[in-house]
Amino acid sequence: MAKVQSLFVCQSCGTTHARWLGRCEACSAWNTIVEEAHAGPNPSSPGMRARGKGLGKGLGLTFQTMDGVESTPPRLATGIGEFDRVCGGGLVAASSILVGGDPGIGKSTLLLQAVAGAALLDVKSVYVSGEEAVAQIQERAKRMGLEKASVQLAAETHLETILDGLKREKPHLVIIDSIQTVWTDTLTAAPGTVAQVRACAHELVSFAKKAGTIIILVGHVTKDGQIAGPRVVEHLVDGVLQFEGERGHHFRILRGLKNRFGPTDEIGVFEMGDTGLREVSNPSQLFLDNRGHSRPGSVVFAGIEGTRPLLVEIQALAAPTAFGAPRRAVVGWDATRLAMILAVLETRCGIAFGGRDVYLNVAGGLRITEPAADLAVAAALISALFDIALPEECVVFGEIALSGDVRPVTRAEARLKEALKLGFNKVYLPRAGATGMTASKSTQVTRLVSGQFGMAQHVIATAADLVTSITGQVQIQGQ
Ligand code: TYD
Ligand code: MG
Repeated sequence: MAKVQSLFVCQSCGTTHARWLGRCEACSAWNTIVEEAHAGPNPSSPGMRARGKGLGKGLGLTFQTMDGVESTPPRLATGIGEFDRVCGGGLVAASSILVGGDPGIGKSTLLLQAVAGAALLDVKSVYVSGEEAVAQIQERAKRMGLEKASVQLAAETHLETILDGLKREKPHLVIIDSIQTVWTDTLTAAPGTVAQVRACAHELVSFAKKAGTIIILVGHVTKDGQIAGPRVVEHLVDGVLQFEGERGHHFRILRGLKNRFGPTDEIGVFEMGDTGLREVSNPSQLFLDNRGHSRPGSVVFAGIEGTRPLLVEIQALAAPTAFGAPRRAVVGWDATRLAMILAVLETRCGIAFGGRDVYLNVAGGLRITEPAADLAVAAALISALFDIALPEECVVFGEIALSGDVRPVTRAEARLKEALKLGFNKVYLPRAGATGMTASKSTQVTRLVSGQFGMAQHVIATAADLVTSITGQVQIQGQ
């Protein structure tokens, strides 16, 4: 048996050190060095047995052609539509998924509902919790009306015990809540350290592959926003789902970040209630902040989240700066992108935000990452600054370049259809996004065209056009 040595590995750059250090000598990062057990070559491995003494030989690698496997993997549905959709239409046998999110966001609730849903569809399911006692889970299941589902519960953190139990029970679906609490005998490192999380996740993922079981690992997001340390588990698993939302809001979003068996960037929307999570089939309604009549600084953005169109309200406020440098505060959008839009408006349209504190908020606590929101943000800023509301029932989308040009965005038609479905009848959009219209003359800044969607389409070619459309005055173009 090879002697197990300890190595001290920097989790940031991967450099190995002979002893623990507070700061990595290679990358100068603080507190990133973690002890990892390092065994020598495994004498019982097939490669080592084949090699005997002297230089080793491989076991003979066989190659196959690309067109070998043709069937699509069968999917296991949990009955929770939004969850199945984010997984690409259900879970795939012998795969492993990591569900990450802030503590208390509702990961255990979601997975308890998913596992109960699967059990009700006669899938043999196991829920192993390292955080809660069995009685606590039973009580929660009862409150959520899931106590009839035949899910096997266990409260355990010792990896070898968990694996023994799984080998005996042979379930199809296993939830491990959470991977940070699981520990293995083979390492001396404390539970929750990167070495333990990586070793345990590796064992569980290998078990899933061998036994044909689906394993879902729950992972708490660490302070710096990474799942279980610096991406240690993400590359091991077949899928990574992120469960997110704002504490003060009821809605939660399940976002696919990685999926080896389906599309990524898909979202599922849920609402947290007294009896667990409820699927939200029409999320646009949720994010539109009790829309009555149009107010200055408030603009509805026709966005796309994953593959779905989603209408969100963007709110801006431009208040006079009381003293010192003006503030720029943004919630739900990128602060750098806001600075860029402000710079474009100042430089290309001659609008000064210099003496104003600017606040930008995406209603409902959603986080938007699409550049298509640029035009909506600019519209909200202009509308707030001039205290002029946009027309009633109007949506906005388009990307703004540094030159001030408004660029077309993807899936304009889906955005328009969603807006129309929710009763909007006007849109500010880039030229190529306009449908059912003829090419407009370049001298004309804004044209009103009734497109095939029955919506009045204001085509915005540059940021200056937008200012003119909202304020109704001709602005002096900056240099
Ligand atoms: P939980 O699933 O335990 O979060 P996580 O596993 O991500 O840490 O959910 C915790 C929160 O959800 C808790 O603050 C209470 C709330 N909650 C409800 O509002 N309604 C419910 O039916 C349940 C089960 C939880
Ligand atoms: Mg939990």
